[in-house]
Amino acid sequence: MLPSIVVLASGSGSNLQSIIKHVDRGHIRAEIAAVISNNPDAMALVRAQAAGIDSVLIRQSDHASREAWELALRERVSKYKPALVVLAGFMRILSEQFIAHFEKRIMNIHPSLLPAYRGINTHQRVLDAGDSEHGATVHFVTPKLDDGPIIIQGRVQVCSGDDAEELAHRVLEQEHIIYPEAIRQFIEGEISFDNPGCR
Ligand code: GAR
Repeated sequence: MLPSIVVLASGSGSNLQSIIKHVDRGHIRAEIAAVISNNPDAMALVRAQAAGIDSVLIRQSDHASREAWELALRERVSKYKPALVVLAGFMRILSEQFIAHFEKRIMNIHPSLLPAYRGINTHQRVLDAGDSEHGATVHFVTPKLDDGPIIIQGRVQVCSGDDAEELAHRVLEQEHIIYPEAIRQFIEGEISFDNPGCR
């Protein structure tokens, strides 16, 4: 039986789409057991349905508290016994308890060359700083925001005339390459939280 992956996504799901493509082509030898979102309008849910993957909406507004929402999320993710939990544009901060529950097997992608530019609005912040280089980082998740062992980074040049949208587009192209590759390496046992690889 193939190892299972659960993807958490809040937005357009272009990273999810790229991961689906690599699973379909046999580059990632795993099954995407479910895509779970906190956002009813997430295109990621539509993409999951189109690919015949279990798509699940778990909204905070349907729960009495943030803690209750996260517990429901945790229980649902656990149901799939994932070898790996993949955060692909999941715009919610997960608690220490959630992260401990899936210890050393949660990955995230962040649109900056970490440790630079943790948090949001990374593209505009890079432009405002006048940086000549930008990119994206795949890393294992720890309780600290946008932190944890780095697996792969993808770099782009910042060009004159770039705006945040153009830059985001170019960074996303890199994301679509490095995220499936990081997942492949994990599934093949080439990397782990304690041995995230040599870059
Ligand atoms: C991606 O750029 C990803 O790096 C970012 O959200 C976007 C999701 O795009 N994630 C974060 O900012 C998390 N801190 P997608 O929905 O098209 O995959």
